[in-house]
Amino acid sequence: MSVLDDIKAKLDIVDVVEGYVPTLKRTGSTFKANCPFHTEKTPSFIVTPARQSWRCFGACATGGDIFSFVMRAENVEFGDALRLLARRAGVQLGRSDERGRSNAIYKINAAAAVYYQDMLNSDDGAKAREYLDGRGVGLAAREQFKLGLSPDRWDGLKAFLRTHGYSREDAVAAGLVRQDENGERSWDFFRDRLMFPIFSRDGEIAGFGARALDDSTPKYINTSQTSVFDKRSIVYALNFASSAIREKGSAVIVEGYMDAIAAHERGYNNVVASMGTALTENQVSLLRPLAQEFVLALDPDAAGQEATLRSLESSWQVFRSVVSRRATSQSVLDQRTPPILKIAALPPGLDPDSLIRSDPDVWESTIADSKPLLDFVIPALIERADLSVPDSRARIAESVAPLIGRLDPLDQYGYWVKLADGMGVHIDTMRAAIGDARGSAGRRRRGSTTQESTGRVEVSSSLLETDRTDMVEEQVLSMLIHNPDFVEIARQASPDWFQHTINRELFTALLESPTIEDLRESVDPSLQGHLERLEASPNAQLGLRHVRVAEFEWCVNRLRQRYIEDLQRLLAASEIPTPEDIASQIIQAKQQIKELEPYGKGGIQLGYNTGDRYLKRRNEPIHRSRG
Ligand code: UTP
Ligand code: MN
Repeated sequence: MSVLDDIKAKLDIVDVVEGYVPTLKRTGSTFKANCPFHTEKTPSFIVTPARQSWRCFGACATGGDIFSFVMRAENVEFGDALRLLARRAGVQLGRSDERGRSNAIYKINAAAAVYYQDMLNSDDGAKAREYLDGRGVGLAAREQFKLGLSPDRWDGLKAFLRTHGYSREDAVAAGLVRQDENGERSWDFFRDRLMFPIFSRDGEIAGFGARALDDSTPKYINTSQTSVFDKRSIVYALNFASSAIREKGSAVIVEGYMDAIAAHERGYNNVVASMGTALTENQVSLLRPLAQEFVLALDPDAAGQEATLRSLESSWQVFRSVVSRRATSQSVLDQRTPPILKIAALPPGLDPDSLIRSDPDVWESTIADSKPLLDFVIPALIERADLSVPDSRARIAESVAPLIGRLDPLDQYGYWVKLADGMGVHIDTMRAAIGDARGSAGRRRRGSTTQESTGRVEVSSSLLETDRTDMVEEQVLSMLIHNPDFVEIARQASPDWFQHTINRELFTALLESPTIEDLRESVDPSLQGHLERLEASPNAQLGLRHVRVAEFEWCVNRLRQRYIEDLQRLLAASEIPTPEDIASQIIQAKQQIKELEPYGKGGIQLGYNTGDRYLKRRNEPIHRSRG
């Protein structure tokens, strides 16, 4: 966790603001007051505790997080606001800033990986080597994926790191070494396990997955969250897979480390692993710009299970929300069709790893035969259900309703027919049931915390809440750093679109500084670390120029859309009449989004799910599927 996260976690924006604005009053889920930054008669200043943000809808027309509030309230620079809030939160600001810490973690992880590799090749590694032999993992793959062994000792790595001059503090920060409360005793966190370094997109070692060498549980333990490792923002093997994914226009997503390794070992290089969870928005953001088609390799045993369905639904929503933002870009890539999410059903009892090793032909045909999500889910559900149980049909209908409900009305009908046929009921009966199922799906949504009618926001916003870093903001910045000529595009963006003050500050500085050298000189020392981290993202300068431009535009537009959505949500929640200039901003933004976006909001009621339909219907009015 970075210092900034730490401060944000320890302070509540409402408390901080109240210190400056004693008149702050709760209205529903937000707090309201006359804006402290300008004179006004009716309150237009809002604080949203759920998002830890503030905004003035009046003359200031700006907002932000806890840092930008203090910058304004105290009239100070970011660094001073940071120091002030750090003091208040009781957070130590090391002289080594954020990047210093991150760099140190990457470095110590790299050293640890070398140690683990050495251990695997040592006398102590015989059992582990045998294990890998037994699983068919060859020497080349062991090298490529830097597999290793943590020995069955409490101080193996610890001693190694000490002799090589690494500090205990860094080892602890990286999650490699644990220590007791008073720091008297410390010990290796990973012991007697097969070590899988987990690479960032850029190939640095962000953390480790560690597998037991037998059937003991937990099977894997992973590095706990550090300032460079967040399981939800990493796609395993993406560093090795991204060029193949681009080339093929298709990514295959498996669950496990072992699955991804087996795939790469056999030359299926467009395979990545989700690390065992439903795809998160951050993970999809990494994948989405690379390809058109995404194939989830799914264990058939899991296919009909409620949990799998929920996870598929959420993955699907995440994909749609990410692409619908992409579609606001003005680049040639807009003409691309929306992404296709497919499911590849593996033969029973086989995970990708065992299938790839035992029968690559079947693996290939399984991927080639992958089906669009619903064509897979509906039969799987029916097959698993006992239709003689009362209510079983209704329950099936209810569980697929949210998925079907997001499709083009024409496709919806087809899937309801498919479902009715499969369950042996007449389509009219099914239609009556649909009314109920939809009704209850709708009720659930309305009752939930977000009020969006599209349904997708419900998932993506809850995912976003767990974000520590902001992928899109950081991508804009690192691309801008590496492509100074993008500054013209960047000028179309407002600093206000950045939610994190640290990113907003750098963005403003970047617009003013023609070169990175100037920038390094001019920014506040407290921002240096973040700047270095952004600079160190080499992907920002790779690839064809027009693709990079498109990606950049996509990110910028996504910031904008997010900003507009936030404004609307906030206005709705705080019952403030929409100021005219904001209303026109929203209308303008929506207009552009509508013009550019192939399928409305990608939501429940609107929606076109294939690109050629979009092209045909582009000029027709978007109609609602139900009133
Ligand atoms: P799997 O159980 O499918 O693991 O979990 P695997 O990689 O295929 O390993 P083998 O084949 O059993 O050796 C899929 C992924 O879920 C995460 C890991 O990322 C794993 O690769 N996972 C699983 C954990 O983090 N912890 C666990 O205890 C289990
Ligand atoms: Mn497996």
